[in-house]
Amino acid sequence: MKRDFPLDEVYGLLETGPVVLITTAWNGTQDVMTQSWHMMIEFEPPVIACVVSNANYSFGLLDKSGECAINIPTFELADKVVACGNSSGRDIDKFEAFSLKREKASLISAPLIDECYANLECRVIDRVQTYGIFILEVLKAWVNQDLKAPRTMHHRGHGEFMIAGETIRLPSKMK
Ligand SMILES: Cc1cc2nc3c(=O)[nH]c(=O)nc-3n(C[C@H](O)[C@H](O)[C@H](O)COP(=O)(O)O)c2cc1C
Repeated sequence: MKRDFPLDEVYGLLETGPVVLITTAWNGTQDVMTQSWHMMIEFEPPVIACVVSNANYSFGLLDKSGECAINIPTFELADKVVACGNSSGRDIDKFEAFSLKREKASLISAPLIDECYANLECRVIDRVQTYGIFILEVLKAWVNQDLKAPRTMHHRGHGEFMIAGETIRLPSKMK
C-alpha cells in the first residue's frame, strides 16, 4: 500500500550521494561545507554538476576562485560531515573546530581533506545561475588504494543516512 508523499521530501527518494565535503579558498580564507546534490554529467574529462546555495559562505569562495575540491568521506567521518553542514565558515574555522587535516592540492588553491578516502581537484567550467548549479571539471583525482569497498554516506533526508554496504558484480555494458 503506497501513501501520498510530500513533494519537499522527494529528494530523499532519488538522491544517491555520496555525501561529500567541498573545500574552497579565496583571498586567504578557506572553508569546507557538506554537499549532497551533485551528479556526474561526463566521463572524461569527468564533469560534475553541483548545487551550492548562495546562502552558504562557500558559495562566495567558489564563485570568486572558480575552484574547489570534492572530498569524499566514509561513515567514520559522519559526525564531522554533519557538523560541517550545520555550521558556517562565516562564524568558525571548521578545519580547526572539527579537527580536519588540510593537505595541499596539486593544481588548485583549495585544500584537500586528508581523512577523506578520495579527493577531486576541480575547476568551474560553467554555471546554471537559476539553480545555483556549478559545472565542475575534475582536473586531478586522488584515491586511497588500500580501501577496496569504501563505506560512503548517502543522505535520505531529515538526518537519515544510508551507509554503502554490499557490492555485487553483474555484466553491465556501462563502463
Ligand atoms: C547532508 C547534508 C547535505 C547538504 N547538501 C547541500 C547541497 O547539496 N548544497 C548546498 O548548498 N548545501 C548543502 N548542505 C548545507 C550546507 O552544508 C550548509 O548550509 C553549510 O552550513 C554551509 O557552510 P558554509 O556557510 O561554511 O559554506 C547540506 C548539508 C547536509 C548536512
